[in-house]
Amino acid sequence: MIAVGCDHGGFELKEVVTDYFKKNNIEYKDFGTYNTESCDYPVFGKAVAEAVASGECEKGIVICGTGIGISIAANKVKGIRCALCHDVFSAKATREHNDANMLAMGGRVVGPGPALEVVKAFLETPFSGDERHIRRISMLEEG
Ligand code: RB5
Repeated sequence: MIAVGCDHGGFELKEVVTDYFKKNNIEYKDFGTYNTESCDYPVFGKAVAEAVASGECEKGIVICGTGIGISIAANKVKGIRCALCHDVFSAKATREHNDANMLAMGGRVVGPGPALEVVKAFLETPFSGDERHIRRISMLEEG
C-alpha cells in the first residue's frame, strides 16, 4: 500500500500519480488534499509520513509546489527518510543507498511524464542492503 498526499500546489500531479496507480492496480491510500484550494503542506506531509512510519503503508509519495516544504514536514517524523527527487538517477540512488521510504516531488517543477518515471524508479528499485549503507542509515536514526 502506497500512501499519497499533497497540498494545492501538488494536487494536479497527485492526480497523475493516482491515475497511474489505478491503471496499474497499485494499491494506494490518498491522504488529501482533494482539490486546488489553498492549504497547508505540513498537514499532509505529516499524515503520509505517520502512515509510513506506523507500517500502515509501505512507502509514501508527497507533492507540493516545489516538493521542499512537504519533504521537510515528512522528515520530521521518526523513521522517515523522504527524498526530494526530480530525476530517475536520484530516485534509484536514494532507494539503493538511503532506503528512502518516501518520495517528494514538486508539481510546479516537474512535468507528468518525467514525474511518473521518477515514481516508477522509486517504487521498483530495491535497497542495496550494503553494509556501509545500513551503517549510515543507522547513524541517521541516532540523530
Ligand atoms: C504553496 O504555495 C507552496 O509554498 C508549497 O506548495 C510548497 O512549494 C512549499 O514548499
